[in-house]
Amino acid sequence: MTPLAQRLQGIPPTIFTTMSALALRTGAVNLGQGFPDADGPAAVLEAARDAIASGANQYAPGNGIAVLRHAIARHQQRHYGLDLDPDTQVLVTTGCTEGIAAAMLGLVDPGDEVVVLEPYYDSYVAMIQMAGGVRRPVTLRAPDFRLDVDELRAAVGPRTRFVLLNSPHNPTGTVLTPAELRGVADVALEHDLVVITDEVYEHLTFEDHAHVPIATLPGMFERTLTLSSAGKSYSVTGWKVGWATGPADLVAAVLGASQWLTFTSGAPLQPAVAHGLDHEPDWPRALAAGLQERRDLLCDGLAALGLDVRRPEGTYFALTDISALGWSDGMEFCLALPERAGVVAIPAQPFHDSDAGDHLVRWAFCKERSVIEEALARLGAADLAR
Ligand SMILES: Cc1ncc(COP(=O)(O)O)c(C=O)c1O
Repeated sequence: MTPLAQRLQGIPPTIFTTMSALALRTGAVNLGQGFPDADGPAAVLEAARDAIASGANQYAPGNGIAVLRHAIARHQQRHYGLDLDPDTQVLVTTGCTEGIAAAMLGLVDPGDEVVVLEPYYDSYVAMIQMAGGVRRPVTLRAPDFRLDVDELRAAVGPRTRFVLLNSPHNPTGTVLTPAELRGVADVALEHDLVVITDEVYEHLTFEDHAHVPIATLPGMFERTLTLSSAGKSYSVTGWKVGWATGPADLVAAVLGASQWLTFTSGAPLQPAVAHGLDHEPDWPRALAAGLQERRDLLCDGLAALGLDVRRPEGTYFALTDISALGWSDGMEFCLALPERAGVVAIPAQPFHDSDAGDHLVRWAFCKERSVIEEALARLGAADLAR
């Protein structure tokens, strides 16, 4: 008999643990997990050291320190024209991951349906299930990975209460267009749904693919909970400082759960993130410009090796179709890759219920150029055909 509670049964261990362990064991170049290998802005790191030295080492308030809540409100105003009350409409969370968990536990009742974009960030599946909810996937399909709003509308049934969005989208690299967002908003308004939107890659977009928060669309602020985090925007993924913003009733429901999960998070990191938001507002866009070059390096290199590459519009990741190399199973390909080529990538299968991702593999380009070049050289020297 398994000691595992029912609410966790059927949820496999996260694929990132498996693949990062494989990278370590085989000495492979890790293009799997999405963390950058360059640090965030020096002044932000310095602000964290200063905060520790000056004694900000005990519990912060459960909803986050005022300085950070105000900085988050200013960020939403500066970038998107959203006016937030820092006391009731902003909550600091332990990374976006806790924001997702607390949103599901604080808002979803057993049996509620959550329409969610497939492929999904894997914590969505776990948290919808832990909350007793039911996921209703809407698939972004190769080769364009666009949202079909009619499919989204068709996924909504009498028990549907939520749409869980993610844009810019991991792992497809799709940035939802204003027309797609308008379509989601129409469905939400028609069916009285709450939209929960994960925008952790909000600043990491390329060319003219600008991120538009769905909360800015007419009629949507009142029914949208927006989640984000400093991890991706400021290259501090290990800090786990995130936030939930939106109307006071939705934010209060998230706080209702988060107070019993972590209660509070990283006291000295909060003023440091506030420093980044207020004093380094252009840093994330500069990061995106550098990332775009590394995206091109990786995508051009993978295409030259015979893979069909989806050039992402945002995020850290590129998806490839491995069928042209004779493979139909991305998991099999990724498990063989460290031995064959000394490189780790992530199969897209675990992010799907359907078989739409069986032949898809995700590669991270938030790495130094030299690391991407080394990975491409190794792949080039290996026999990748099945
Ligand atoms: C779509 C998405 N949401 C949330 C997270 C996690 O954010 P955080 O590190 O702030 O918990 C990630 C990290 O990869 C992600 O890709």
